[in-house]
Amino acid sequence: GDHIKLRNAQDPESKGTRVRVFGRVHRERKQKDVLFVTLRDGYGFMQVVISGQLAKTYDALTLTRETSMEILGEMREVPTGARAPLNRELHADFYKIPEHWKAAGGEDAITNRVQAEAEHATLLDLRHLTLRGDVASSVMLVRDAVEFAFNQAYKEFKIRKVSPPALVQTQVEGGATLFKFDYYKEDAFLTQSSQLYLETCLPSMGDVYCIEKSFRAEKSLTRRHLSEFTHIEAELDFISFDDLLTHIEHIMCRVLELVLADPFIADKVKSMNPDFKMPERPFMRMRYSDAIEWLKEHDILNEDGNPHAFGDDIAEAAERKMTDIINKPIFLTHFPAEIKAFYMLKDPEDPRVTESVDCLMPGVGEIVGGSMRLDDYEGLMAGFQREGIDPEPYYWYTDQRKYGSSPHGGYGLGFERFLAWLCKQHTVRDCCLYPRYFGRCKP
Ligand code: 4AD
Ligand code: MG
Repeated sequence: GDHIKLRNAQDPESKGTRVRVFGRVHRERKQKDVLFVTLRDGYGFMQVVISGQLAKTYDALTLTRETSMEILGEMREVPTGARAPLNRELHADFYKIPEHWKAAGGEDAITNRVQAEAEHATLLDLRHLTLRGDVASSVMLVRDAVEFAFNQAYKEFKIRKVSPPALVQTQVEGGATLFKFDYYKEDAFLTQSSQLYLETCLPSMGDVYCIEKSFRAEKSLTRRHLSEFTHIEAELDFISFDDLLTHIEHIMCRVLELVLADPFIADKVKSMNPDFKMPERPFMRMRYSDAIEWLKEHDILNEDGNPHAFGDDIAEAAERKMTDIINKPIFLTHFPAEIKAFYMLKDPEDPRVTESVDCLMPGVGEIVGGSMRLDDYEGLMAGFQREGIDPEPYYWYTDQRKYGSSPHGGYGLGFERFLAWLCKQHTVRDCCLYPRYFGRCKP
C-alpha cells in the first residue's frame, strides 16, 4: 500500500519541507553514487535518497537491513511510477546511526535468517523478528483496528465494558482444560471465560462486554487452539434466543464495516485475503440435528470413524469440512445438553437440546460460542449435578437466580479465530503477538 505516516513526516503537506524521520532499513540498494533506502516504521514506508557527499560516507557494514536510523532531509514529489510510496521521496542531507542501532549485518542479517527456510520451531523462537515481516505486521495492525472497532460497535449498541478477574476458583468450560495454580496455598485457576462474571453485572449495569484473556490447557496441537487467547464476550439481559443470534451477526458485520472503512486497513486485509466478501445477513441457521444429517449425507465421519449420530460432538475436522463446503457463515444451533456446558438453557420445545449457538466461518470453523442461560435456580442445580460440579464455590453465580432472575444470554468470540478468518491465516498462532500453546511459552 501507499499509506505513509512515518512519524514526524506525516501527511502530504510535508512535501517540499524539511523533515526528520526515524525508522528501520527495510531495503537498500546502491546505484553508482546514489543510495536508495526504503525506510520502515509501523506507519508505512518511505523512499530515502542518499547522494552526493553523504553517499560517500556510506558503509556497507553500517547500513544493513533492520538497522535503525535518523534522517533529516527534504521531501520531494516524484513522478508516478517511480516506485516511491505516495510518489514522494526524502532527499537526505544528514543521517545518524548510533552504534547500538546497527543490526547484525552481512549475510547473517536477521531478516535473511527469518526469510530463509527455517525449522518451524526456529521461526517460532524468532517471533520477535518474524513480527517485523510484512504479513505478521499486517495481521497485528488489522488486529489493532478490529479491537478498536469492537469497542466502538459495543458503544454504539450501548453495551458497557467491564473487566472481570483472570484468577478464579470456578470453572466455566469443563475441568479438563483448567490451568491450576497455587494461590496462597489454595487451589485457583486461570479463567476459561468471563461469562459467569458478566452475568453478575446485568442487574446493575445492563448489557455488558469484556475483552480479556482466557486460558485453556488444550493438550493438543491444532491450528485454532491456543493456551492463552483473547476472548471477546458479551452478556445481554431480557432477550430471547432469536435476539441473541440477531445481535451476534449484527455486531460482527458492524465491526467489519468499521474496520474496512479505513483504507489503510482495508488494503492490508485485501493483500492477505483478496477474496474477502462482507457476509450477508441474516447468517444461515442450521440446527445441530440437521448438521448431523448433513454430515451423514456427505459421508463425513465422526472421530471414531463412524457415521455421525445424534449426540456426537462435531469435531474440528468435520466442522471445518462442512463450513468450507457450505462456504458462508453458519449459525449452528440447538446442541444436545450432554455435550454442552452446565449453564445452558434447554429448548422449551425440545428439552433434549439447548438454546445454544456456534458461529462457523469458512476456513476456520467455530469462532463464536454462545447460549441462553439457565435462569432458574433448580434448573441450574441440575446442570451442576449433570456435570458433576460442586455448586458451593458458585454461590455468587447461583445467587443471581435468587435475587431477580431474568432471561439472558451471551457469547464468546475467539479474537484470534476471527482474525484468522478475516486475514485468511492458516493458524490462530499467527494472529497474536506471542502465541502460547501446548509446549510453547516463549519468547
Ligand atoms: O465455545 P467456548 O468455550 O464458550 C465459552 O467459553 C463461553 N463461556 C463464552 C460465553 O458464552 N461467554 O469459547 C468461545 C470461543 C470459541 O468459539 C472460540 O472462538 C474461542 O472462544 N476459543 C478459543 N480460541 C483459541 N484457543 C482456544 N483454546 C479457544 N477456546 C475457545
Ligand atoms: Mg465452543
